[in-house]
Amino acid sequence: MQLIDGKATAAQIKAEIAEEVKQIVENGGKRPHLAAILVGHDGGSETYVRNKVLACEACGFKSTLLRFEDTISEAELLAEVDKLNRDEDVDGFIVQLPLPKHISEQKVIEAIDYRKDVDGFHPINVGRMAIGLPCYISATPKGILELLRRYHIETSGRKCVILGRSNIVGKPMAQLMMQKQYGDATVTVCHSRSRDLKKECQEADIIIAAIGQPNFVTADMVKEGATVIDVGTTRVPDATKKSGFRLNGDVKFDEVAPRCAYITPVPGGVGPMTICMLMKNTLSAGKKEFYQ
Ligand code: GUN
Repeated sequence: MQLIDGKATAAQIKAEIAEEVKQIVENGGKRPHLAAILVGHDGGSETYVRNKVLACEACGFKSTLLRFEDTISEAELLAEVDKLNRDEDVDGFIVQLPLPKHISEQKVIEAIDYRKDVDGFHPINVGRMAIGLPCYISATPKGILELLRRYHIETSGRKCVILGRSNIVGKPMAQLMMQKQYGDATVTVCHSRSRDLKKECQEADIIIAAIGQPNFVTADMVKEGATVIDVGTTRVPDATKKSGFRLNGDVKFDEVAPRCAYITPVPGGVGPMTICMLMKNTLSAGKKEFYQ
């Protein structure tokens, strides 16, 4: 069994990005600029956004954090999005989710100029991704593809089971694993209504678990020699931790790991790659790689 080290891989990629930014700046180019909008004081969102700002520093990017109280109206937030759309210095930006209930997330996502949508959530990017056109690919699936590639894990023609059908992970992951230019695999998506979910998993060469249920994937569901990617990050109370919680994956790691060829830990697997891929998308935005 080999552990897939997302933390080390992410650090290496960030160093590669920093080197490229250094070259760009030395050649008289502009430092990529990422802006982030954070609404309210959700603990998880605060941490994610802080880590995104730190990652920008590590990559040599300029970053701008715009904070608003959760009393901001939808119209006011849409006006802020529009300002960033028109700000020529900002190459890409994100609006951290979730948003307060009185604001439509979909409306906000669709208000973002798709050419600056480094999260890859805008329907134009989702659609372009689905038909294999150049676009921003959302960070978590992109990070998983990068881990599979860097660890030389064969996906072409392999059977891949994806657990979960969310817009952020399950759906784009299935699209990408299916496409010839990315996974080139035979893909099955399982969810809460699937019959024979266990049997589907048992036949899988690669399992990507993104359902948000701690310890859902057990040893009896995993074929000997399979690769298991754990996207779960459920916060569970833990008095031994300074934060008062720890992150729990969707996979029962201790019993599943011995059966695997490769497995990602939680934390330290997919998580660190996600922010790193946002940085990759921001670099692409700075270079106007996909759109003018
Ligand atoms: N909330 C949880 N994950 C994400 C993400 O990747 N992007 C944004 N904008 N919000 C999130």
